[in-house]
Amino acid sequence: MQVLDKEFELYITHEEILNKVKALAEELNKDYNGKCPIMVCILNGAFIFAADLVREVNFPVEIGFMKYSSYVGLDTVGIVDKVADLAQDVKGRDIIVVEDIIDTGYTMERILRDFKEKGAASVKVACLLQKPKKLITNIKVDYCALDIKNEFIVGYGLDYNGHGRNLKDIYILSPDDND
Ligand code: IMP
Ligand code: MG
Repeated sequence: MQVLDKEFELYITHEEILNKVKALAEELNKDYNGKCPIMVCILNGAFIFAADLVREVNFPVEIGFMKYSSYVGLDTVGIVDKVADLAQDVKGRDIIVVEDIIDTGYTMERILRDFKEKGAASVKVACLLQKPKKLITNIKVDYCALDIKNEFIVGYGLDYNGHGRNLKDIYILSPDDND
């Protein structure tokens, strides 16, 4: 699969992703029974994951959106910008941050700090993917659908320079293109 100038290989099928998303939703259903959290989708990457996840939970829920950016090309730059803030008031609310992928953890560290300042009652992290070997911040990931290798991936919402988000499956950078 060609995305811009890079070659990618099939890594996780759409069917497997959906099974893992359902399993993650089951965990949330147990933990949020009787509650009404705000599930906050971190744009852009988490939009497809969040859309599938919110339709699998069986508790009342509000949906919110925030936008952060840190990645340019294949590498995280370590500087995280808040590009768009949440519309809802989070004071006293339970928050589930819905993120596509935790890499170094810099983005999530910043997001969690922002929520603490806003006075949320609780803040938990639900991510689709985690590259555990690359985590260099001290953040707690409460729910994670899939652990993956320490390689660059695209598809199911994740992009390479803005492209590939619409791919149904997840693709990994070909070894030949990984220099
Ligand atoms: P972190 O701040 O290093 O944890 O990076 C997290 C952000 O970088 C995520 O929200 C993603 O948007 C992006 N990212 C990290 N790894 C990948 C990848 O393999 N493919 C596409 N985007 C990625
Ligand atoms: Mg992202």
